[in-house]
Amino acid sequence: MACAMFGLECRVFMVRVSFDQKPYRRMMMNTWGATCFPSPSNETEAGRQILAEHPDSPGSLGIAISEAVEDAIAHESSRYSLGSVLNHVCLHQTIVGQEAQKQFEKIGAYPDVVIGCAGGGSNFAGICLPYVRDKIHGKAIRIIGAEPTSCPTMTRGPFAYDFGDLAKKTPLLPMYTLGHDYVPAPIHAGGLRYHGMAPIISHLLHEGLIEAAAYDQVATFQAGVQWARAEGVIPAPETNHAIAAVIAEAQRAKAEGKERTILFNFSGHGMVDLAAYDAYLSGKLIPYELPDAEIQRALKAIEGFPKP
Ligand SMILES: Cc1ncc(COP(=O)(O)O)c(C=O)c1O
Repeated sequence: MACAMFGLECRVFMVRVSFDQKPYRRMMMNTWGATCFPSPSNETEAGRQILAEHPDSPGSLGIAISEAVEDAIAHESSRYSLGSVLNHVCLHQTIVGQEAQKQFEKIGAYPDVVIGCAGGGSNFAGICLPYVRDKIHGKAIRIIGAEPTSCPTMTRGPFAYDFGDLAKKTPLLPMYTLGHDYVPAPIHAGGLRYHGMAPIISHLLHEGLIEAAAYDQVATFQAGVQWARAEGVIPAPETNHAIAAVIAEAQRAKAEGKERTILFNFSGHGMVDLAAYDAYLSGKLIPYELPDAEIQRALKAIEGFPKP
C-alpha cells in the first residue's frame, strides 16, 4: 500500500507456506499493486538452489530475506525494505510503547507485566523498550516475549553471531539464533517462523532485563479462541502467542491471590487467517515437539562464528 501511495513498483517474496495458507494476504497485496512470489522461487539464485535441493521446501523468513536482498542487489534502482529484526526497525516501533505509557498515565495506572509475541522482535520491542528504560531506572516490572515451541529462538537457542538470512547476504548479527539454515515447521503463525531475534531484544534477554516463554501452536489457538469468545475480536495466530502468555500470567496472579495489571501488544487481527482457525476447530492441528537433535544439527551452521 505504501508503494502504491508513492508510485513505486513492489515485489514481495512471500514464504511459501504463508503464500499457500494465507491466500487473502496475497490477494490484498495484489489489490494494492504488488507482485508476490512464493519463496523459495525461481526468480533468484538463492531460491533456485534451495528448490533444486528441496523442491517441497515450505520456505522460511530467512530464505525470503535472501531472495529479496539478491533481487534488490540485481536491480540498480531497487531497494530492500526490512520489516523487523534490525534495531532501527525496533526503534521505529517504540511509538507503540510510548503511546501505551501515555494511556496508562491518563488512567493513573502502571503495568506489572508487559507482553508481546516475538518473531523477529519488532512488535515486542515496540511495546516493551520504553518500559525497559523504566526498569533500568528502578521500576519493578516483568517483560515477557512469547515465541512458538517450534521456533524457540530465545528459549532454546544460543546467543551468538549469525546471519539474518539463509544465503548469508546480511551482515553478522549478535542474536539468539537457531542457525540461519533452520527451517521451522509450517505452523500457522508464519510471522514467528524466524531463526533469529532482534539484536537489542537478544541483548536485553542476555542481560536478564526481559524474559522469554514458548507456547505450542495448539495452546495458542486455545488462547486465541478464548479471547475471541470473551472480546469478540479474532486475533492473528502470531498474536495468540502473546495472549497465551497473558492468560498464563493472569492465572498465576489468581493462584497467588494477587491483582496484576498486564499490558500486551495485540499485533494483528486474524480475519485473513480464518483457515488456520478452521484447521484448529476441526482438530487438524497437532502439538509439535522440536527434537534437540534438530537444533544441534541447525546450529552446526554457525560453528566457528565469532561469539558476542
Ligand atoms: C500479526 C503479527 N504479529 C507478529 C508478527 C511478528 O513479527 P515481529 O516479531 O517482527 O513483530 C507478525 C509477523 O509477520 C505478524 O504478522
